Amino acid sequence: MNPLAIRTSIDRCVLREWRETDIASLARHANNRNVSRFLLDQFPFPYTERDARDWIATATAKAKATETHGMHLAIEIEGEAAGGIGAAFGEGNARATAAIGYWIGEAHWGGGIATAAVRAFAEHLLAEHTVGPTAIDRLEATVFANNPASIRVLAKAGFAREIHVDDGGDDDGGGHDDNDATAATNLGVRFVRLRNAGA
Ligand SMILES: CC(C)(COP(=O)(O)OP(=O)(O)OC[C@H]1O[C@@H](n2cnc3c(N)ncnc32)[C@H](O)[C@@H]1OP(=O)(O)O)[C@@H](O)C(=O)NCCC(=O)NCCS
Repeated sequence: MNPLAIRTSIDRCVLREWRETDIASLARHANNRNVSRFLLDQFPFPYTERDARDWIATATAKAKATETHGMHLAIEIEGEAAGGIGAAFGEGNARATAAIGYWIGEAHWGGGIATAAVRAFAEHLLAEHTVGPTAIDRLEATVFANNPASIRVLAKAGFAREIHVDDGGDDDGGGHDDNDATAATNLGVRFVRLRNAGA
């Protein structure tokens, strides 16, 4: 099977599978409290090369063995992995829902990269996952209320605000961080994008 690569509206930014050669750049961009504080607990701080190696091994194994459970891609910017984007596919009654999460290395913030990446990823999921066990018709993202940049990204990428959810440790989307005293006091805000809703 050909390796997956999703083009975005920004030429220098492509979404593609993680590679072992990404370890150093992943650790360098991920090792930043300004990034980790808005992500799930499993995104560590400090973020070491060992964490990067473990993540790439996990993401690569998942891509090979359990495609039905999700998709985790590197955000490549100017030839270097400088962020990540992923989707966890739901099970049972939630099987048509994918919960997405993403981050960009701080050096690249403010250039529209996240917007282009989320838009391209959402369009890929809704266009390519239409039948079978990974059919998806609803995308969700959960964001802390004190993360206006991410809320803006989702709005620009065709997501609409849905409901407030407790920050009680339900790990079904990006944005929880129970280690962060500031963020943990904030409610998560859920955004959704439905098939056929348009961007
Ligand atoms: C959130 C994040 C992904 C944004 O990445 P990015 O590439 O800088 O995003 P973009 O440039 O595409 O868009 C950012 C938008 O937010 C806006 N923005 C940035 N800071 C803002 C703030 N404090 N208040 C309001 N809007 C803000 C920008 O102006 C821009 O909107 P515009 O294009 O209308 O001007 C990035 O900051 C990040 O990785 N943060 C840490 C991890 C994280 O929060 N992940 C998301 C978890 S749900």
